[in-house]
Amino acid sequence: MRIHDVAPGTATAAVRDWVQGGARRRAAATIGRMKTTAELREGFLSFFEERGHLRFPSWSLIPPPEDPSTLFISAGMQPLKPYFSGEKQPPAPRFTTVQKVLRAGGKDTDLDEVGLTARHASMFEMLGNFSFGDYFKDGAIDLAWEFVTEHMGLHPDRIWPTVFAGDPELGLGEDEVAVAGWMRIGVPRERIIPLPRSENFWGPAGETGPCGPCSELNYDRGEEHGCGEPDCAPGCDRCERFLEFWNLVFMEYHLHADGSLTPLPKQNIDTGLGLERGAMLLQEAESIFDTDGFRLIMDWIERESGVGYSTSPVATKAHRVLCDHGRGMTFLAAEGVVPGNEGRGYVLRRLIRRAVVQARRIGLDDVYRLPGVIVEQVGPWYPEVVENAARVEEVVRLEEERFRETLERGSKVFDELDASEAISADDAFTLAATYGFPIELTVELAEERGQAVDVDGYRERMAEHREIS
Ligand code: GLY
Repeated sequence: MRIHDVAPGTATAAVRDWVQGGARRRAAATIGRMKTTAELREGFLSFFEERGHLRFPSWSLIPPPEDPSTLFISAGMQPLKPYFSGEKQPPAPRFTTVQKVLRAGGKDTDLDEVGLTARHASMFEMLGNFSFGDYFKDGAIDLAWEFVTEHMGLHPDRIWPTVFAGDPELGLGEDEVAVAGWMRIGVPRERIIPLPRSENFWGPAGETGPCGPCSELNYDRGEEHGCGEPDCAPGCDRCERFLEFWNLVFMEYHLHADGSLTPLPKQNIDTGLGLERGAMLLQEAESIFDTDGFRLIMDWIERESGVGYSTSPVATKAHRVLCDHGRGMTFLAAEGVVPGNEGRGYVLRRLIRRAVVQARRIGLDDVYRLPGVIVEQVGPWYPEVVENAARVEEVVRLEEERFRETLERGSKVFDELDASEAISADDAFTLAATYGFPIELTVELAEERGQAVDVDGYRERMAEHREIS
């Protein structure tokens, strides 16, 4: 049996035995000596398994047909929604998983941040522990604290939890239970930061679904990473001093389309610890791209382009985008997605085309060879990319070839546009329809030279064109 073939919500006794047999085989060898990304992944899953959680590997990046809320799985809890809503009975009250996540496309996108910060990736792995009506806030806080301080070895004085500050529109006050929970385990009140709904109320990526107040763990990486402003604290958007790395969601409500909340049948826990950010902390790395989980890929890009990663802001951005988008395109194509003009296919097209443009900036041709090294890096944990390696390369090669046919001419047209005024809908349309520039790419290139784009006009123009054709 392949566990990847088991749809969420259909776990049977046989699956349970299979999963738990694995638990016994693995024991807890890696807990307590975590340094590498692989040790963190395994250490996390083993830690929670030892504490009664049923372990599952990642489900597909493509949500099941009954969940049209997002194009891609955007959180570890998403494949488990039917258990949170009470629609299905989970085979155990506690789960632990590592889930492939792609935040690209639709509302839930981190794509535009990629390349610009030390911590953003659109494609990442989310470690999670989940309780379906079993432990709640205090249990989640105790487990998280034990894991980060005793097993990840993070210094307790550098950890700053945030809590939900309350919101009159939701009819909810500050999350005093979470504050008390963190104080109980020894965090001083002044290091517990209340933040508004936008930061600390976790809602579903789609319009409706299970949700609740959340509490995030931030790690203080030191003043040298800060902006130096007196109000710099977790949530500061001027600098990267405080790294948010683990979100504990107290999932107890259902959000309805009219914005109202009703209680879920049970109080649940959903957590998400970004594997790459966790590794960054363990390795005291400057960015996620400097961790061992990206090492082979980043080395390959340097070697093949002949341009060092941090030799200039342009190079740093290009390396990061290639690394992240390379991972995204590999996982997507391995799952059977093909480039296209709509939906998932459009996101894959965007990933490949943005990567090709960034590669060109550091003199790297042949982006289609990048997935080979991604497969080498992630293959030991994700057999599906190994099994589909040839197909992935072919998909990327064809798309790259198609784009290269027009890229040179399109770039010339773009460079010759009057940079002193916004790019018109007609020009953006020509760049897309004739030269294959996804609108987001035109917007990004325009932003780099301080120029706006008439995106609304472009969309109208595109809609008319689609209707005619
Ligand atoms: N579901 C928790 C998170 O993605 O942050």
